Amino acid sequence: MDERTEIKERLSITEVVSAYLPLKQAGRSLKAPCPFHQEKSASFMVNPERGIYHCFGCNEGGDIFSFVMKMEGLSFPEALEKLARQAGVELKAKRPEDTAASAKRVRLYTAHELAVRYFQASLVKNPKALEYIIKKRGLTRQTVKDFQIGYAPDSWNALTDFLASKGYTYSELLEAGLAGQKEGRQTVYDLFRGRIMFPITDRDGRPIGFTARVLDDSLPKYLNTPQTPLYDKSRAIFGQFLARDAIRANDEVVLVEGNMDVVASHQADVKQVVAASGTALTLDQLRTLSKLTKNIKLAFDTDRAGLAATERAIELGGQLGLTLRMVVIEGAKDADELISKDVSAWSAAIANAKYIVDYLFDRFATDYDLTSAIGKRQYTDRLAITLRRLGDPVEQNHYVRRLAEATDTSEEAIRAKMEQAQERPSSSRTPKTAVTSNAAGSLPATGAPVRLTKAHKNRNQREDELLAICLYEPLARIALEDLTSEHFSRPESQELYLMLSEHTHDNPDQIIGALGDPAYGSQCIFYAERMFGGYERRELPEKAFKSADRLQDVVEEVWREEINRELETAERDGDEAAWTRLMTRLNAMNQRKA
Ligand code: UTP
Ligand code: MN
Repeated sequence: MDERTEIKERLSITEVVSAYLPLKQAGRSLKAPCPFHQEKSASFMVNPERGIYHCFGCNEGGDIFSFVMKMEGLSFPEALEKLARQAGVELKAKRPEDTAASAKRVRLYTAHELAVRYFQASLVKNPKALEYIIKKRGLTRQTVKDFQIGYAPDSWNALTDFLASKGYTYSELLEAGLAGQKEGRQTVYDLFRGRIMFPITDRDGRPIGFTARVLDDSLPKYLNTPQTPLYDKSRAIFGQFLARDAIRANDEVVLVEGNMDVVASHQADVKQVVAASGTALTLDQLRTLSKLTKNIKLAFDTDRAGLAATERAIELGGQLGLTLRMVVIEGAKDADELISKDVSAWSAAIANAKYIVDYLFDRFATDYDLTSAIGKRQYTDRLAITLRRLGDPVEQNHYVRRLAEATDTSEEAIRAKMEQAQERPSSSRTPKTAVTSNAAGSLPATGAPVRLTKAHKNRNQREDELLAICLYEPLARIALEDLTSEHFSRPESQELYLMLSEHTHDNPDQIIGALGDPAYGSQCIFYAERMFGGYERRELPEKAFKSADRLQDVVEEVWREEINRELETAERDGDEAAWTRLMTRLNAMNQRKA
């Protein structure tokens, strides 16, 4: 029996849940007010026979592991450890390569902890740096302490000598991203010199990297830790540890652009604030935040680049069921400057954040001239992309109507534009076919309900099988390269697909731990262990390729059904444009087959 099953046999779901909630008997189930959304009545049900919970209000559901993960904001391995302790189940020793890798990570963590302390001590000794931080940037000593801000002396070997004296090897310092090395040289040098050091910490507050600012106008203004085994810039979130409680308490998170914006806001006691720190916001970062709150407020620059980042965030947010709002900063160039002028204006800007779609409607209305035909075209072009990304059909309808009214056109014309709006594939790979998600039946323009045909059911099985192999065996993940997220029909399978194609080396526990909904991942792993446990690792990629092929076949069958149905409608209505478009899609699919 594996560890998960053993823990589940020893710990009842009732026991686990009732440590957090007052459960009341309701027939064969138990119920309580849902801890995951605001409610007065009790829609949160626990089924002791099946060992699962489900909330009929917000649709959260899963087993003891996902419950503890959600309640405590833990990763899957952390929840496993916690529940194993509670159940008195001893977790098996990790594989030797895991132990070696984690020993190495521990060394990199401790090197960072020492570096943080070294920089803190060096700040106290450097009047110029202190003056910059305290006088020029207006930080208090408490803030400096809370954020563990320090100073890297203007030296090529201060930190490296210090860490070498503590037993760290040059190769460890290079790997930690604390040192650099000139080609052909034996020795290493300090990567950060003469800069204010802001530690970047992980979810648990452990330092994993730095973002470092110069004291003057020299360039680059900020230098960040390079990609290392600890620090992955697409995942790190500046300030997340210090902001966590406030994010939960306020049920919202404010994303700002700069590290100093985070620091200044926390100092002003507005603490639900974090930054993506020098990168465009990623799906990984949003996924991490989505575990704390579904309400995301973006305080991004509203220049062209900032707007593009915002529009992209809508797409990512839609995949995670987030509500995005825009914090508009007026009369200052960023949050930091606004706070130093008027803290209450910053709080007010956050409180008055506008729902992102409304914001874009208003914003583009000032960018384009809506009295001219060209202006209307540009305005509708721009918004069609956003409307297409809206997951909820009722909401989408609402805005289609609004856009039609604003430009004095028909809703059909707007819908036609949305059809045309060329979506980038959501994975970085190029799709094999040009078939878009609409052909997959997400929302047929005719409004006809999608029946669950045999092909649909078959499709779910194929998806599960393929994802199970790929989750179980990282080498098999190359088979996903030929697919796009549109080949997967359910939110949970799409999420797992995206995770697996982005993280081709992570082990199953890491992947499951990072999923918004771990239940499906756990199910896949159970399935894989049963189905593929007997095979050799190197046999699995081939199995995955075959499975991917079969999935492509059924998906195309579904797409064909839908296209044929739409073709009938187009023929009946004499809609020639639609007919041509649909035929083109069919041809593209036939070509792939050939
Ligand atoms: P800004 O240039 O807006 O800086 O860059 P800022 O946050 O207002 O900085 P201060 O107030 O002058 O100290 C915004 C963010 O972009 C990243 C940093 O994360 C910065 O906080 N950035 C900027 C870099 O990574 N490197 C750079 O050279 C500049
Ligand atoms: Mn600034």
